[in-house]
Amino acid sequence: MPEGSSAIVRPARTVRGVVRIPGDKSISHRYAMLAAIAEGTSRFQNFSAARDCASTLDCMAKLGCESRRSDGGAIEVQGVGPRLNAPTQMLNCGNSGSTMRMLSGILAGQAFTSELCGDESLSRRPMARIMTPLTQMGARIEAAGGGRPPLKIHGGPLKAIHYKPEVASAQVKSCVLFAGLFADGETVVEEPIRTRDHGEIALRAFGAEVERKGNASRIVGGQRLRAIEAHVPGDLSSAAFFLCAAALFPGSQITLPGILMNPTRARLLDILIQMGLKVSVTHLEEHQGELIGTIEARGAAWKGSVLAGADTAALIDEIPVLAAVAPYTEGGLEVRDAKELRVKESDRIAAVATNLRKMGAEVEERPDGMKIAGGQHLHGAELDSFGDHRIAMAFAVAALRAEGETMIHGADAAGVSYPAFFDALRSATGE
Ligand code: S3P
Repeated sequence: MPEGSSAIVRPARTVRGVVRIPGDKSISHRYAMLAAIAEGTSRFQNFSAARDCASTLDCMAKLGCESRRSDGGAIEVQGVGPRLNAPTQMLNCGNSGSTMRMLSGILAGQAFTSELCGDESLSRRPMARIMTPLTQMGARIEAAGGGRPPLKIHGGPLKAIHYKPEVASAQVKSCVLFAGLFADGETVVEEPIRTRDHGEIALRAFGAEVERKGNASRIVGGQRLRAIEAHVPGDLSSAAFFLCAAALFPGSQITLPGILMNPTRARLLDILIQMGLKVSVTHLEEHQGELIGTIEARGAAWKGSVLAGADTAALIDEIPVLAAVAPYTEGGLEVRDAKELRVKESDRIAAVATNLRKMGAEVEERPDGMKIAGGQHLHGAELDSFGDHRIAMAFAVAALRAEGETMIHGADAAGVSYPAFFDALRSATGE
């Protein structure tokens, strides 16, 4: 989709078929970064097609680590070992907070200075959460006012820390564990709520020892990584759009093969089942420590839910789509403890409330969440993605059950995580 383009979504009657979801974004970022500091050539099948992951590969190339797409479609990353090359240009992370935050952990341990920037949305996002621990470890980091990008990281020898982040963030945890690889001694990250553990699993796949007990993960510095061959599981957060679309129409039936089933991500399925979606998972397998399965889902009655605490943290990326379809549920949706949604690619609480209201829904917006009544009738409207991929896709799904057409401006934002989303949605709805 060309930059700045809009999409028109028409009401649908059902959602059907097999949808092949691209590789998980969180895992692809971590594989690309760790492959760069490993010895040997890593190969990744089904590497995420997301623009965000292309930003990571681009940054790694500027740090001396080339990657290419092989004839079979795999991404091959030529590892350069723990020491990267000093970049001669700014490292542009585009829209990707994951790239900036996790890569900073690796750059903090390098014997050079590097600069990272991002687009307008990323330039507004908080970076103090990674600057604090990395500074405690011995790196020197300069940022714009309020701890925002661009960042200038003066790397060097690091010392291990025992870090207890205030916010539950897998990006922060991975950042500190990656820095821990370069630190003298044992680094511990003890999180307030358990977050996704792809960093720990990927580190182990590349040969590092990472110990995990309760909510604490430990890594001893100086470990060498070895290249791997891996198949990246389909992204469950992208699958969520099709699962919610199927839930809108009793009688819908979709199959999503090869989807990530990591328990720190799969809470979504429990919630969707509680809300009434009929879900079965078959063909469960493990690849490089990550669980994969085929999801079959059938639409049935669609009840409401309340999300709070650990559930909110576990579903943070799926809340926009759950909220966008909440008016069509019987009981509505209440989201609590979701302050983090305000500092994602957009202020997702405000973006969801604005778009839902334009479609005629009543929404109660709160500082850390929202309450959306069920049983509402929505109409098509002219909406904005707010430059946020998940908002663009969430409202494409909501539009399927509205009366009349919906126009989504800035729909190309979907490419940040799922470039083929609108084509896949059109074919699943029989358009
Ligand atoms: C991610 C963690 C989450 C999530 C983001 C990807 C990751 O962010 O929202 O899309 O890959 O670790 P936080 O760590 O900021 O919660």
